[in-house]
Amino acid sequence: MRTEVAIVGAGPAGLLLAHLLAADGVDSVVVETRSKAYVAARIRAGILEHSSVELLRSAGLGANIDAHGDEHRGIYLQWPGERHHLDFVDLVGRSVWVYGQTQVQADLHAAAEAAGRQVVYEAQDVALHDLESERPFVTFTDATGAEQRLDADVVVGCDGSFGPSRSAVPEAKRETWERVYPYSWLGILADVPPSTDELIYAWHPDGFAMHSMRSATVSRLYLQVPNGTDVADWSDDRIWEALSTRLGASQEGWELRTGAITEKSVLPMRSFVQQPMRYGRLFLAGDAAHIVPPTGAKGLNLAIADVALLAPALVSLLRKHDATLADAYSETALRRVWRCEHFSWWMTSMLHQSGDAFDAQLQLSQLRWVTSSTAGAAGLAENYAGLPLGF
Ligand code: FAD
Ligand code: DHB
Repeated sequence: MRTEVAIVGAGPAGLLLAHLLAADGVDSVVVETRSKAYVAARIRAGILEHSSVELLRSAGLGANIDAHGDEHRGIYLQWPGERHHLDFVDLVGRSVWVYGQTQVQADLHAAAEAAGRQVVYEAQDVALHDLESERPFVTFTDATGAEQRLDADVVVGCDGSFGPSRSAVPEAKRETWERVYPYSWLGILADVPPSTDELIYAWHPDGFAMHSMRSATVSRLYLQVPNGTDVADWSDDRIWEALSTRLGASQEGWELRTGAITEKSVLPMRSFVQQPMRYGRLFLAGDAAHIVPPTGAKGLNLAIADVALLAPALVSLLRKHDATLADAYSETALRRVWRCEHFSWWMTSMLHQSGDAFDAQLQLSQLRWVTSSTAGAAGLAENYAGLPLGF
């Protein structure tokens, strides 16, 4: 097989890149190790930044966001006895959208199918070769057991945190940073109308809790739990009780509605960056290059921002033989990556229980400042609603 751009991974980064390249007439083939059904069913992120929505709309992928997404002006930040609304629109003129990653993924699948783009699912033993040459290629075993070779001009690693692309960069040519947090999230999806109009991020002595949503009838909620937590130890009743305590702490007149839990999982949290995001004819995008803890809702948005930068760079490289944007890709992308790394670490550190009583007082002081000072609130709003693409 031969194509112009071989894309490893059919998550949001890979499928969106294929879509943006096709809009400029550049061919690609996406190679994905999981089945189509598995990729479609993964429950992950839920918030799209302002610029992600603008990009998806401009790429012709906005119809379902406009029809089924929910625009939010801001978020609530709370701690026992206090709940404050931060209005991002008033503060920085930008909003966010509740629109699940599963929906983004479904829109991208539908667009790929309608256009007849090639996505190879259930590929095993995916390996990247000759990345320093002008003729890189990807090999894999397809679902029938046949060995395949995909020749390309460029390979893009969109294969998330566990794919082979990141480590295809020789050790001497890469630098990495990592932070593992001493806590995880227990996330649930429940068939119950949200008990709030906008997301609630709650600091609580028992641990962080968050109330998000997917629709008018489906809620998404998270609880801070110790690393190594087994979901089997958390019955539905125990989960609702902990959520009610942490989210309801001294919030008079407010009650958490409960309902049938349809999904339950534990997510470990870490920060990770590998740079540069380019090695020869290999480019990295999304989780393949960087991971953030989920508290700032940045993972999916950062994947979209990478690809928004990379697509025009590859079009220039392949169509005009102009490498200027491709050469600048890593450095330009990493500016936003590190901003989001910092914001995600900051939100995480402000809201989770981990240190001693002194740390708790610092966190509460920070929360009071962020919710009472316009400058403090605007800083959070600017980062959460997302900096413009090209920042
Ligand atoms: P991914 O979505 O991970 O896609 C990578 C793709 O590559 C996958 O389809 C994978 O199967 C494929 N792949 C892996 N190995 C290979 C291989 N060898 N060959 C070919 N393909 C391969 N972010 C938030 O903002 N909020 C959240 O609540 C949130 N929750 C999350 C929960 C979980 C369990 C995880 C893992 C992530 C979560 N994230 C969340 C992060 C967010 O989902 C990611 O940042 C986002 O999916 C990044 O998109 P991506 O396309 O770069 O990577
Ligand atoms: C969701 C996840 C997040 O990490 C976040 O910060 C906001 C919302 C969600 O799954 O809805």
